[in-house]
Amino acid sequence: MKGRGVPPGLLWIATLCALTTVEALGKASVPNISPRQDGSQEEKAKNNNQVLPTDGGPTSKPPNTTPSPSTSPSGPWDNYRLPKSLVPINYNLTLWPRLTPDENGQYIFTGLSIVEFECVEETDLILIHSNKLNYTLKNDHLAELTSVNSGVRAPSIKSSWLQSVTQYLVLQLDGKLIKGHRYHLYTDFTGELADDLGGFYRSEYFEDGVKKVVATTQMQPTDARKAFPCFDEPAMKAIFHITLIHDKGTVALSNGEEKESSVIEGQDLLKTAFKPTEKMSTYLLAFIVSDYTFINNTVDGVLIRIFARKPAIDAGQGEYALNKTGPILKFFEEYYNSSYPLPKSDQIALPDFNAGAMENWGLITYRETALLYDKDSSSNSNKERIATIIAHELAHMWFGNLVTLRWWNDLWLNEGFASYVEYLGAAHAEPNWNLTDLIVLSDVHRVFAVDALASSHPLSSKEEDIQKPAQISELFDAISYSKGAAVLRMLSDFLTEDVFTMGLRTYLAEFAFENAAVDLSVTKLPDTVEKIMNTWVLQMGFPVVTINTQTGLVSQEHFLLDPDSNVTTESPFNYEWIVPIKWMKTGIIKEPQWLKVKSSTIDAMKASGTEWVLANLNVVGYYRVNYDEGNWNKLLNCLMADHKLIPVINRAQLVDDAFNLARAKIIPTVWALNTTKYLNKETEYMPWKSALNNLDFFYLMFDRSEVYGPMQNYLRKQVTPLFQYYKNMTGNWRDVPDGHMDQYNQVNAISLACRTGLEECQNLTKTWFNQWMDTKMNPIHPNLRSTVYCNAIAAGDAKEWEFAWDEFQNATIASEAEKLRSALACTNQPWLLNRYLEYTLMPNLIRKQDATSTIVYIANNVVGQSLAWDFVRARWSYIFKEYGGGSFSFSNLINGVTKRFSTEFELQQLKQFKADNSEIGFGSGTLAVDQSIERTMSNIKWITENKQNVLDWFDN
Ligand SMILES: *[C@@H]1O[C@H](CO)[C@@H](O)[C@H](O)[C@H]1NC(C)=O
Ligand SMILES: *[C@@H]1O[C@H](CO)[C@@H](O)[C@H](O)[C@H]1NC(C)=O
Ligand SMILES: *[C@@H]1O[C@H](CO)[C@@H](O)[C@H](O)[C@H]1NC(C)=O
Ligand SMILES: *[C@@H]1O[C@H](CO)[C@@H](O)[C@H](O)[C@H]1NC(C)=O
Ligand SMILES: [Zn+2]
Repeated sequence: MKGRGVPPGLLWIATLCALTTVEALGKASVPNISPRQDGSQEEKAKNNNQVLPTDGGPTSKPPNTTPSPSTSPSGPWDNYRLPKSLVPINYNLTLWPRLTPDENGQYIFTGLSIVEFECVEETDLILIHSNKLNYTLKNDHLAELTSVNSGVRAPSIKSSWLQSVTQYLVLQLDGKLIKGHRYHLYTDFTGELADDLGGFYRSEYFEDGVKKVVATTQMQPTDARKAFPCFDEPAMKAIFHITLIHDKGTVALSNGEEKESSVIEGQDLLKTAFKPTEKMSTYLLAFIVSDYTFINNTVDGVLIRIFARKPAIDAGQGEYALNKTGPILKFFEEYYNSSYPLPKSDQIALPDFNAGAMENWGLITYRETALLYDKDSSSNSNKERIATIIAHELAHMWFGNLVTLRWWNDLWLNEGFASYVEYLGAAHAEPNWNLTDLIVLSDVHRVFAVDALASSHPLSSKEEDIQKPAQISELFDAISYSKGAAVLRMLSDFLTEDVFTMGLRTYLAEFAFENAAVDLSVTKLPDTVEKIMNTWVLQMGFPVVTINTQTGLVSQEHFLLDPDSNVTTESPFNYEWIVPIKWMKTGIIKEPQWLKVKSSTIDAMKASGTEWVLANLNVVGYYRVNYDEGNWNKLLNCLMADHKLIPVINRAQLVDDAFNLARAKIIPTVWALNTTKYLNKETEYMPWKSALNNLDFFYLMFDRSEVYGPMQNYLRKQVTPLFQYYKNMTGNWRDVPDGHMDQYNQVNAISLACRTGLEECQNLTKTWFNQWMDTKMNPIHPNLRSTVYCNAIAAGDAKEWEFAWDEFQNATIASEAEKLRSALACTNQPWLLNRYLEYTLMPNLIRKQDATSTIVYIANNVVGQSLAWDFVRARWSYIFKEYGGGSFSFSNLINGVTKRFSTEFELQQLKQFKADNSEIGFGSGTLAVDQSIERTMSNIKWITENKQNVLDWFDN
């Protein structure tokens, strides 16, 4: 399709990739978090790292590294980005992970790599990424260079060393590499198979009391270089010939299909070679050795396999994922109009995994909770998570893997896109769940909260601002995922889904196996699509659109949660957006409008008499809406009188907008509280969930004050009808509601009823939990377990806690363990909470992947808040060092432990924390520290201004 006339406006997505001209983010520079590793290591003879002298296998010489200059001169190796002189073509890579420790107790892997690269610009310097690897010397150097073409001699290596800060293996040559010629670079290396969740790492679990070790990988974004020396940038695509050496009885997996597996003579070892990969980026590689089993299926010639621990597969926990993968793959083939690019699709569940899942091409890795479903203990929410994460990762098989963004600054497009279409893929697999609506709660509302801060940042970053690994990691945030998804959903809505998918298909066909380049004639596009999108992509934040239904005046303003905060980030559009407005008048849908300027009069939006206006239908637009007081009152009356006239998503939105407008001091807080008055008639999930999310803020601000009692009384009164509604629907809690949303809302009813002290609810949860403790048979439906466990543990003492802790430690199903782990944070006993905090840093008790979220669970508890904060402050340097490696969750940790902060004293502590740790740094949590300071200041003001009003309102 290349070069053919493309319908105007359809290159939207390619244009978005080209949008890299944006103001600097003004982020503090982040210290490199890798421990120093230099080349001045002593030669140390070791036997354990010997690899077999087989062809293609690593040699048996002990690893060593050359002495590097004690202070290496400055040079191109100080830049974080690779020079453009060399381009990799293919790699032959053999890796041998040891699943048992060596005599020093260290787990290691050894490897041999040959990379063929082409010189595209004459140079006498080779820079290739390498992190924490030790090399075996070859002729006194860390690598050996040969020429592919026998007619050309490769220059010899003059000096070689490891540049640890920028993570390079540096080779200086005594002559030039010749443009247009290809060379082979040979290396022989050893690395640690650490339990650090990054690069080639190990995951451990117990099976029948026996410790098992899995060797697995997480390369994204910059840890492939920790597994083997490579040109570790997404645009440096190459073909990979992978071979794994592993013990007999274990299974080796990689991106490609297995080509052959042979016994290594005289050894209890197998050598498994994989067919060459497609041309692909290093961050999508995966190598796994385990003794897992699998279940499989074939869908239109594509082999689909689900791998997991043997007991999990035997118990049928992979079945749901296997059932849904085929339909979701077929959905995306049609959606992209492009067949699945690979012959197989493996998906594997790992006990230790930092993210939720990773889209390695052809071998997707998951947390166990994101892939394994157990019909007796998984909830409907666990099930939904599995369907949506599978859809997210499969969406990447094309968007991200087949077509890859040139550099990480455009990560938002990759992740935003997958985060949007995951709803479409999952909705196809579970058509009765109304999944696509949930993007409003899970992504739009989630990201509104951070994007309304002055410390937010635009979707797109400048390429030159994203250089260091920690800067790249920091991009994996709510803005990239959720705002990306929200903005693409808005685009799809105003272009129409048909035009959107047509543009997408064109883009994929054009750039398959390549990186999306910027070389596109932007002039082919109508100004509008590009200009509209620029306003959403290049400036941070979003507008609040105010509609005055008296005058028809419609205006926009940058929405800031704290109106007094100081926006220092400049915007190329002066914080004005081109806003699509879908709307209705008194229940009737009207012609959509656009707001292209600061304010304009739209006569159609005038309303008289009992007429009301409701804008941003189904919240497809990424903005909030405010009205004149008269219209607000009419909307509130409508909610009270006949709430179903307003679409359910908009009922959720009215609540969310009102609460947030009140926090921004745009409307009085009591108007927001007024939107909750109708809830005693509401039975739908989304409005309730939206209300609960917003009331959470009231709990955070007031659960240590005199507002708490009256607030509890009011909410108990509001939720009681809902509690009774579900009690009736389920035959006194015997049955499960049919609808997916009803199942969710039943959980809301029980959580809020118990939380506000409804006795009937508290007795119910206590009875169930006691029954479980007495009989050891769990009578609680999986959907209700999280909330029932939490309430019972909160109401109980050490006995309940110890019981749940035992159950947690013995749980064989990850999602069950997860429910218990969060419920354990609900106790009101400080000593139990403090002990639990200590456990979070003991990986044999709480897995590293779960440490930060456990601390956050504890901070969510009013009793645990200050304990968790003290804990994090006291141990920051330790946490940062131990958990910093492959971790993306520091921002969650910092935001989590500080979100209740609302006093001067807490603000001072937070500032002190920032100052005290400026040397160590905050890694991917850097931005979160500033966000927390900003949020605390705004909370302080909010409480001062609102406490009395709110107290009075609840009292009445
Ligand atoms: C790399 O491996 C492939 C497949 O085994 C083989 O054909 C090729 O010769 C190898 N390349 C080098 C440089 O050894
Ligand atoms: C790499 O070398 C250093 C220094 O000799 C040593 O401490 C480390 O254990 C080595 N790593 C591996 C995986 O052999
Ligand atoms: C599943 O795998 C087994 C063993 O590899 C194979 O014999 C069988 O044909 C596969 N089934 C499907 C449906 O692919
Ligand atoms: C998977 O599909 C099979 C066949 O349709 C069905 O019997 C089974 O219950 C499904 N399993 C799950 C966990 O959905
Ligand atoms: Zn993703």
